[in-house]
Amino acid sequence: MGTTIKHSWAEPFKIKMVEPVFITTEEHRKKAIEEAGYNTFLLHSDDVYIDLLTDSGTSAMSDRQWAGMMLGDEAYAGSKNFYHLEEAIQNYYGYKHVVPTHQGRGAEHILSQILIKQGDIVPGNMYFTTTKLHQELAGGKFVDIIIDEAHDPDSLHPFKGNVNLEKLESIIKEHGADKIPYISIATTVNMAGGQPISMANMKALRELTNKYGIRIIHDMTRVAENAYMIQQKEEGYKGKSVAEITKELCMLTDGATMSAKKDAMVNIGGFLAINDPDVFDEARNMVVIYEGLHTYGGMAGRDMEALAIGIKESVQDDHIRARVGQVHYLGQKLMDAGVPIVKPVGTHGIFIDAKKFLPHIPQDQFPAQALAAALYIDSGVRAMERGIVSAGRNKETGDNNYPNLELVRLTIPRRVYTQAHMDVVAESVECIYSKRNTIRGLKMVYEPKYLRFFQARFEEI
Ligand code: F0G
Repeated sequence: MGTTIKHSWAEPFKIKMVEPVFITTEEHRKKAIEEAGYNTFLLHSDDVYIDLLTDSGTSAMSDRQWAGMMLGDEAYAGSKNFYHLEEAIQNYYGYKHVVPTHQGRGAEHILSQILIKQGDIVPGNMYFTTTKLHQELAGGKFVDIIIDEAHDPDSLHPFKGNVNLEKLESIIKEHGADKIPYISIATTVNMAGGQPISMANMKALRELTNKYGIRIIHDMTRVAENAYMIQQKEEGYKGKSVAEITKELCMLTDGATMSAKKDAMVNIGGFLAINDPDVFDEARNMVVIYEGLHTYGGMAGRDMEALAIGIKESVQDDHIRARVGQVHYLGQKLMDAGVPIVKPVGTHGIFIDAKKFLPHIPQDQFPAQALAAALYIDSGVRAMERGIVSAGRNKETGDNNYPNLELVRLTIPRRVYTQAHMDVVAESVECIYSKRNTIRGLKMVYEPKYLRFFQARFEEI
């Protein structure tokens, strides 16, 4: 449905049910974060006031989606909800074949195991934690081909998710196209700050990969948000709907992995979509080992129905304008207060530049981790580290990776919080910014082997 844009954005819904949240005391929060090893992932959500840990699985479903939950066909095989889901994916994204999975990483696992051989190279527009790990576990090596501007929090490039095509071509020439099973392309790029890729860059990438016969696999977790940024910023897209741009993006690629817990506003779910019938055949066979039968893949029938409806809602212009509008509202407040954040503001959260916020803490004392803990102590706002802890260790040398971006992510769930919540978040960030010199670095006292940021524990230095 089109909207006449005359006034500022507002949520295209009214609230029908509420979930109370509670404020705790600072003393309580100090104890809670200490017990959680200064890792916000290890806090109990009861101890959190405003939860900006992630936008994953935390969205509010619509009344239509809840109604869909009541229409769950829980047959083991051939559930009608699967066919609704398949139809929604074909209609809105244009992919031919669908394999449902329990969430995004389930699809990443299956796809990586099918397409990647030992010693392969997987170029991508910046890594994502689970995506890269699955590529490595399948024997591949991830190589970053994002433009340099993406690693610079102050670069105002409008499409920091773009691929550096010269760099990609030189990698193809160096290793040979047969060593590259696919190019891994995310819309929007989470670790860069929720930054979009332009349609022009995607088209040029398609041309280049066609020349060498290499697939593009799309991490379409936040594709509608990327489409909105194209509509807003890219020449020639003002008159197109987010739904049209979304489909155009997808159709430039050969297949996709989707964490439906983001864009598509369900609490759990995902899928693998692929055009190649042979890869589909293998994926459909493999899903029964790891996820479930190929017509549910780890989801209940009701979850698939809610997802089919969520896909449609996710590409509506008025929805996405309000969703990104809220993120930008918070971003503007923080920029006005002089807080260093990644610019331009992305689509799913605000990324605080912890290196600039806490210049007195060296990177190996985990400044972003320390900042997320300090924010929690101040107000009960829960954020997430996206820096050296998330970047993990080099697979070959075992050394810490030292990413240029050392960030704290304030991730905004969809349709959940109000502008007043955003005001409180901004006040709290400003408050700790004014006393930033008192924040101390951390030392890691427990380090899990895989995806360490989820469960690592720290102590104050
Ligand atoms: N790709 C991207 C870009 C993601 O952001 C995520 C998850 C995944 C893949 C994996 O999907 O969680 O459904 O298995 N991101 C969450 C986040 C965890 O907080 O950013 P999943």
